Amino acid sequence: MNVPALDLVAQHRGIAAEVMGRVMAVVDSQHFILGQPVADLEAAIARLSRAAHGVGVASGTDALLLPLKALDLAPGDEVITTPFSFFATAGTIHNAGGRPVFVDIEPDTYNLDVAQVEAAITPRTRAVMPVHLYGQMAALERLLPAAERHGLAVIEDACQAIGARRRIDGAWRMAGELGRASGFSFYPTKNLGGWGDGGMVVTSDAALAERVRRLRTHGGLKTYFHDEVGTNSRLDALQAAVLLAKLPFLEAWSAARRAHAAWYAAALAELPAVRTPVTDPANEHIFHQYVIAADDRDGLQAHLQSAGVGTAVYYPLPLHLQRCFAHLGYREGRFPVAEAAARRVLALPMYPELTEAQLQHVVTSIRAFYRA
Ligand SMILES: Cc1ncc(COP(=O)(O)O)c(C=O)c1O
Repeated sequence: MNVPALDLVAQHRGIAAEVMGRVMAVVDSQHFILGQPVADLEAAIARLSRAAHGVGVASGTDALLLPLKALDLAPGDEVITTPFSFFATAGTIHNAGGRPVFVDIEPDTYNLDVAQVEAAITPRTRAVMPVHLYGQMAALERLLPAAERHGLAVIEDACQAIGARRRIDGAWRMAGELGRASGFSFYPTKNLGGWGDGGMVVTSDAALAERVRRLRTHGGLKTYFHDEVGTNSRLDALQAAVLLAKLPFLEAWSAARRAHAAWYAAALAELPAVRTPVTDPANEHIFHQYVIAADDRDGLQAHLQSAGVGTAVYYPLPLHLQRCFAHLGYREGRFPVAEAAARRVLALPMYPELTEAQLQHVVTSIRAFYRA
């Protein structure tokens, strides 16, 4: 049996008519850049994340980069973030003119260890960028007061966490709701994925929304008049059409992922060589990824591949050890929790369309490897 790491064909089969209807409406209009579908998507994603404004941009990377650029960082200004994330988290800090400053992660959720953030704050710190890794939110209720005390902007990297929420002071708060600005990615593999690159900034700060809107169109809202130097980071109408067609399914898809996660967790519970994902009890996880920590991870991955099970390692080398950041001066051993995670994590197949037979095959194959 084959269980690919992700099966977008299965998803498309179920929704082709809805998606094609919206896509063909854009084709018929021949209006491909921004326009009504993008405005509709901006309103819908802002509503979902309980933010006042959405700004559609060309990628999740730009959804982080443009709010960071809006901070007008001076050389040497620092942004604190996690070393255990996709590269864009730190790459955008660098490209916005800042210096990434890393702190270690929590061993259970792999999210930024908020307790360590305060010790990393210096007079040059301007912002903190927590990442809601794999689809569960970082502990914003502890991060936000510390950031406020020090006058720091919190920019949420919510690229993996659309629709995730966390119970804070007795109320559900959405990914993207509480930060100064937040970035979502619509990369095709995301829970809400387009047919190419795409992203969205959400914020409840009207001035910041306007600034990001300007930055995505070469720094000017009036054509051919430029207040500052921005870039081209417009979202395509075709991507917005695909995303609008998929959006009504998102909640049920994420619930199906949670059900699969519960199934995996029960089936793998007695296996000492595997630690299943830990969900912070305050969180409703959207399981963008289902990531176990495994003994002999590389051996397990090779075994699963031979059994027809696709897996992936997110992420094999923490950001503080990437060659491009050698100048920051971090050495191996500096962030032991992130470094241990990089050696042990393995993402199992996770998508709403997984069948029970497929889930069973994944688990049987894992058990066979450990002879358990
Ligand atoms: C945590 C994180 N940050 C940023 C990004 C960047 O998003 P994109 O690939 O859409 O540029 C991604 C997605 O790949 C991500 O997972």
